[in-house]
Amino acid sequence: MRILAVAAELFPYLKVGGLADVMAALPKALRRLGADARVMLPAFPEIRAALPGARPVWSHPDLLRRGPATVLLGETGDGVPLYALECPELFGEDGGPYGDWPRAHLRYGALGWAAAALARDGDGDGWTADILHAHDWPAGLAPAYLALAGGPRPRTLMTIHNIAYQGAFPPAVLGELWLPPEAYAVDGAEFNGSLSFLKAGLHYADRLGTVSPTYAEEIQHPAVGRGLEGLLAWRRGQLAGILNGVDTDLWDPATDPHLILPFDASTLSRRGLGKAALQMELGLQEDPIAPLFGVVSRLEEIKGLDLLLPNLEALLGQGAQFALLGSGDPVLEEAFRAAAKAHPGRVAARIGYDEGLAHRMFAGLDVLVVPSRSEPCGLTQMYALRYGCLPLVRETGGLADTVVDAADPLRGNGWLFGPEDPWELGLALARACQFYREDPAAWTALQRRAMAADHGWDNSARRYLDLFRSLVGDGGG
Ligand code: ADP
Ligand code: GLC
Repeated sequence: MRILAVAAELFPYLKVGGLADVMAALPKALRRLGADARVMLPAFPEIRAALPGARPVWSHPDLLRRGPATVLLGETGDGVPLYALECPELFGEDGGPYGDWPRAHLRYGALGWAAAALARDGDGDGWTADILHAHDWPAGLAPAYLALAGGPRPRTLMTIHNIAYQGAFPPAVLGELWLPPEAYAVDGAEFNGSLSFLKAGLHYADRLGTVSPTYAEEIQHPAVGRGLEGLLAWRRGQLAGILNGVDTDLWDPATDPHLILPFDASTLSRRGLGKAALQMELGLQEDPIAPLFGVVSRLEEIKGLDLLLPNLEALLGQGAQFALLGSGDPVLEEAFRAAAKAHPGRVAARIGYDEGLAHRMFAGLDVLVVPSRSEPCGLTQMYALRYGCLPLVRETGGLADTVVDAADPLRGNGWLFGPEDPWELGLALARACQFYREDPAAWTALQRRAMAADHGWDNSARRYLDLFRSLVGDGGG
């Protein structure tokens, strides 16, 4: 099974969110199962730098009339073949994968066009793909180019990692993208008067996917579907919700190089030392008794952290400490900075991106709070579970699929709240504080259960492989 995964992010070279982690881990897991999974991205400077020995395997003299384009083939640190599309006019400058508006359509039109051509017609070594797996809107046109060209072609899967980002552009760009006029239609790439890359993928791909069973259901309804709910409900028979996994090579508390004192479920007392070290690192009082709550997140409206702010005083009033690592919305950044200033030693706010600190937070926090308004899958709650940090989450998307409330004596591994309401979050925080205070032995049992659960990629990679096999076997229907 030859699979080409197409996206705009890839850990550890270029990461904005969890998609980068998935792009590194899923192909690796598929390869472990014997599939020939490869990855394709634009040759952003960070990607180019990671491929010193790459060689050209595909070219186009004037891709989308943006000049000569070349695809280089190299390998990731994990040994996954990585194709990088070079086109100096489009990807030479820095600016991150989601910058460069309003020209972004050209960047990702070029990526989709080259990925489709390479997957179908082959690279210089004659490698063609059985499956083109498009991830999020930047890859959305690849399935469209393949379907529109007609003739024999790889089968296609369009996976939604976040339906909030759709890649909408004025219809006038259709010609620049080498799409035929008929593609701009309700039965095509048109959506609300725009040309939508995600809608194109969702219309033209053979199968659709997203990253948790609950999110697959939620996006079929107006509250979460962002206008695409009708199409998704219509195609629900071809829509799969497959939970992401954890890359256990990178996320293992027993071997994690970011931790001073690695630990496992049988050496949980060491975890207490990790908490003390984290408190010191963050300038918090070294207090083993205080339950340490925290957040590791992009600061965006959808992550629901504004629901947490009005609860901070009450949380501290219950003897807790709070630490945040995140960046994004300047208003939220300032609000958490101000909270840290108002409560020195009790609240810490690290504004920025810090991979090592993120690992130490999962290893040292008692509770990770993820109050997302919507969460397609969420990786941080799974990292937390693996590191014996109990998640307190809103019951939505992949959070609802991975966290069970401690009220369930047999399966509990954290806390859930339902309504998008600070008050409801406050009640859940109070329940967690009370549990921590009143029943340390039960807390340790929850930690052990959380750490024992299998959140690795193997099961989900198998489900992807089954899906790919059924697609190739039945010709796509
Ligand atoms: P999303 O992709 O919506 O941001 P996920 O939970 O799927 O949410 O993935 C977030 C990823 O980004 C995780 O790997 C998490 O550890 C990481 N992350 C988020 N914020 C930070 C930060 N400030 N520093 C380091 N890692 C971060
Ligand atoms: C998106 C989602 C997140 C998911 C990640 C990887 O960034 O917001 O919930 O875990 O993609 O699929």
